[in-house]
Amino acid sequence: MTTYTAINLIARPTGGPIGPELFDVVQLDMPTVGNGQFLVKQNHMSLDPAMFGWMSPDTESYIPPVALGDVMRSSGIGEIVESNHPDFNVGDRVMGMMGWKEYHLSDGTGLNKVSAPLPDEAILSVFALPGLTATQGLYSIGKPQKGETLVVSGAAGSVGSIVGQLAKADGLTVIGVVGSDEKADWVINELGFDGAVNYKSANLPEELAKLTPRGVDVYFENTGGPIQHHVFDRMNAHGRIAVCGLIADYPKQTPDLGPNWIPIIKKRLTVQGFTMPDHFGEIPALLEKLTPYVMAGKIKHRAHVLDGLPSAMTGLNLFFTGKNKGKLIVKI
Ligand SMILES: NC(=O)c1ccc[n+]([C@@H]2O[C@H](COP(=O)([O-])OP(=O)(O)OC[C@H]3O[C@@H](n4cnc5c(N)ncnc54)[C@H](OP(=O)(O)O)[C@@H]3O)[C@@H](O)[C@H]2O)c1
Repeated sequence: MTTYTAINLIARPTGGPIGPELFDVVQLDMPTVGNGQFLVKQNHMSLDPAMFGWMSPDTESYIPPVALGDVMRSSGIGEIVESNHPDFNVGDRVMGMMGWKEYHLSDGTGLNKVSAPLPDEAILSVFALPGLTATQGLYSIGKPQKGETLVVSGAAGSVGSIVGQLAKADGLTVIGVVGSDEKADWVINELGFDGAVNYKSANLPEELAKLTPRGVDVYFENTGGPIQHHVFDRMNAHGRIAVCGLIADYPKQTPDLGPNWIPIIKKRLTVQGFTMPDHFGEIPALLEKLTPYVMAGKIKHRAHVLDGLPSAMTGLNLFFTGKNKGKLIVKI
């Protein structure tokens, strides 16, 4: 009997770096493929900041935590190697929630065929969660208008970089918030942003004010942290804030305090959080919106690929150190 590798979550993070002590690397027997089922060899798996939430014991969130002892949750892309399913054939490429494992037995639920002739890395970086999240948050909440100013935090990240490029293509002035000079250089000189501010800078309010002389109309929030108060202070009347992520707070036992609400009234701001599982039914429409920008060459990406399933166990820390350069992916 041949086996394959899977990684189970066996403990919850308690602050500090994520490491192998939270996981159990196991060998499982290859499953028998029953009627109406197929077997996928997963080739690339996405790592996402949301995994910190899925590992936590929080049962009040938008999705239940991963149970201790279960395979760690993740989405990925792979190829069907055996099939007894009428609609899925050997050789088909599929994408969806498969978990930290080499092989995935499925009846088709939650998996979608991938027909675009693009490498796995490009699919995961643009057409999977990052592009869908950017498109949903920007257009449904941000409602960008030509000539407006948009600030996006986590601007060199997989979601933020797409948000900024979509807004730029729509004729907005786009300012990115990043954590290094290299990332500032990338978003300005490669992606075409109008400016970038390093949130580690000592004179954040002055730098932001210089870059947003007409205030801020749309704030796409991916990180929280010190920049949040300063962008909030610069919001224009009727501004929109799409709250996508607060990674600066994920490792903290007590999250930072947010801005006072009075300006929400005075400036008639819209502040709305969103999570993608609410919008999975809208994926065809989101892809229809996003694809023309990609086809027109307006959306560049970079993928940061780690090698081998076990690399996921420490790779997640790259999100917190900011050492991930683009979409974090594990090649299996
Ligand atoms: N709502 C949803 O459905 C949804 C879906 C996908 C993602 N998200 C959220 O969107 C955000 C971005 O996700 P992503 O996958 O695109 O990740 P990413 O931006 O590619 O990577 C995370 C980045 O966050 C920055 N960061 C880390 N700690 C920080 C801190 N203390 N202060 C400020 N920035 C910090 C780092 O960049 P620097 O080097 O620039 O610091 C790091 O590279 C995350 O918060 C994620 O949870 C939400």
